[in-house]
Amino acid sequence: MTVLITENENETVLEGEKLGVSLKERIQGGCAGNNLGSHARDNPGGCAVVALYGGLGAGKTAFTRGIAAGLGIKMNVTSPTFTIVNEYPGDIPLFHFDMYRLESENELFDIGWDDYQERSGVCVVEWSEKVPGAFPPDTIDVYITVLGENRRQIEIKPVEPVKPKGAEPEC
Ligand SMILES: Nc1ncnc2c1ncn2[C@@H]1O[C@H](COP(=O)(O)OP(=O)(O)O)[C@@H](O)[C@H]1O
Ligand SMILES: [Mg+2]
Repeated sequence: MTVLITENENETVLEGEKLGVSLKERIQGGCAGNNLGSHARDNPGGCAVVALYGGLGAGKTAFTRGIAAGLGIKMNVTSPTFTIVNEYPGDIPLFHFDMYRLESENELFDIGWDDYQERSGVCVVEWSEKVPGAFPPDTIDVYITVLGENRRQIEIKPVEPVKPKGAEPEC
């Protein structure tokens, strides 16, 4: 687990970007759908899932904007609140979900959640609290807590385990 403190929006974007870069390297290394810190191939070939937790204005969309940048996506990421899911094409596409308006987990089927799980790319979810049953075991959980007007705590779990020096990268 990693715990970070950011003092402004840009720092949160940069932390998201670091995660995006890690995901990109991992996916391009043939470990698609197999997230940081996990050695079980729960979802080979499917999207790598990042579940964001935190209230309104915590910085979930800012963090997602960073993930997109880290994946090499040039488009500007905005909140998908009114559409539930926005797709950003790229070498590694980003599927950006906002579950705020979902009435129940049953609606996951209607928005095509299962289909997205089969697609290669990264699935980032805002308001993950709404859909606790949606996530594969190798999901990366990111908890953002508001500590002050511009201060945020970002907890990322799991993170990539420390590998012995010279060890082959594992999936
Ligand atoms: N450290 C910080 N990290 C992220 N956002 C911050 C931070 N400090 C202040 N903010 C402000 O908080 C808001 C976060 O908005 P947004 O990313 O859309 O949140 P969410 O998607 O969680 O509702 C923005 O207005 C941003 O400027
Ligand atoms: Mg948002």
